[in-house]
Amino acid sequence: MTKYRIAWLPGDGIGKDVLDAARLVLDHLAFDAEFIHGDIGWEFWCNEGDPLPQRTIDLLQQVDAALFGAITSKPSDAAEAELIPELQGKGLVYRSPIVRLRQLFDLYICLRPCKAYAGNPLNYRDQIDLVVFRENTEDLYAGVEFSPIPADLKAVLTQHAPNFAPFKDLSGDQVAISCKINTLRASQRIVKAAFEFARKNGRKKVTVIHKANVVRASDGLFLQAAREVARQYPDIQWEEANVDAICMWLLKNPLNYDVLVAPNLYGDIISDLCAQMVGGLGFGCSGNIGEKLAVFEPTHGSAPKYAGQYKVNPIATILSAKMMLDWLGEVEKAKHLEAAVAAVIAEGRVRTYDMGGNHSTLEMAQAIAEKL
Ligand SMILES: NC(=O)c1ccc[n+]([C@@H]2O[C@H](COP(=O)([O-])OP(=O)(O)OC[C@H]3O[C@@H](n4cnc5c(N)ncnc54)[C@H](O)[C@@H]3O)[C@@H](O)[C@H]2O)c1
Repeated sequence: MTKYRIAWLPGDGIGKDVLDAARLVLDHLAFDAEFIHGDIGWEFWCNEGDPLPQRTIDLLQQVDAALFGAITSKPSDAAEAELIPELQGKGLVYRSPIVRLRQLFDLYICLRPCKAYAGNPLNYRDQIDLVVFRENTEDLYAGVEFSPIPADLKAVLTQHAPNFAPFKDLSGDQVAISCKINTLRASQRIVKAAFEFARKNGRKKVTVIHKANVVRASDGLFLQAAREVARQYPDIQWEEANVDAICMWLLKNPLNYDVLVAPNLYGDIISDLCAQMVGGLGFGCSGNIGEKLAVFEPTHGSAPKYAGQYKVNPIATILSAKMMLDWLGEVEKAKHLEAAVAAVIAEGRVRTYDMGGNHSTLEMAQAIAEKL
């Protein structure tokens, strides 16, 4: 029997290309696992009306971890138009399967390390080594949205929220509402996860990102939770930063930052900014981590124009696989893998197109495998 059961979720477009590359490397590493394919993505939306079929949810309940490639998402009118005729007009609503996975399995940490590996020609600045903790289950991504706004909700808002006055007479199709919902529990646990990580990994500082001066209720609660948690970690330096200001400061002085923690939307934006400083989409790795399950994925999408061409950079996915090894406790294997990636980047002999080279996805994976 193998030691681990890993759900293997290529998804759409280049998802398959990059997962094939990760598999080549994991096999070289003699990672003792059974990889079990799971259906996810656009094809299953079009043919079954569900991009995350129940059989995939069942599979995820029986594995140790999952590696996910990418999915294609399209706006609701395009989603409806691409359903097979039998499913059209049935009121099916497309929802991103990865956002659903995060909520279904309470994968409350989105962990995104952003490290500038020496020799990467795409580094904004050498020695950047940031780790972003993004809350992954609520905030503006809670999915509580109204368009059009029901009349009774409008009446309640008019009665209870004086600031709703400028909107109260607009017709239903002239205004939309997306709720930013933060809870004390989720705010506390993401900040705690960031501080625990800092302590365990000898990190010096945690920066708490918010916009509580304007978004007083939901960000105010996040900040209050963060302050309470920070008090329990007197050994770790910490600071607060407005999300707009931190975008400037990160670009100006990226080496001043270490661990960053933020509610969902700001975390999403900040982590793309940080990823771009260390090479962009070809390097952006991430983990969606809960108490029982973790799903690791590159942060890029399905890049349809490159699908099946084995052209894109697999490093983001290979580093996501490295994060999976860490999470499973295979720390030595994770270290070897990261060292192999670092060695290939430093050597500069094998580079995919985004790095200025012309090597393929699988040639990059092979070069990394040979360093193991
Ligand atoms: N988590 C996800 O699965 C996810 C994330 C973002 C976008 N999407 C979806 O992916 C589809 C395409 O979106 P998009 O084009 O805006 O973003 P994308 O990330 O798929 O690609 C944008 C561009 O970035 C470059 N790129 C992406 N990955 C790369 C890699 N590994 N190596 C080198 N270059 C790379 C390519 O030039 C590509 O055309 C959309 O349907 C979108 O909704 C999915």
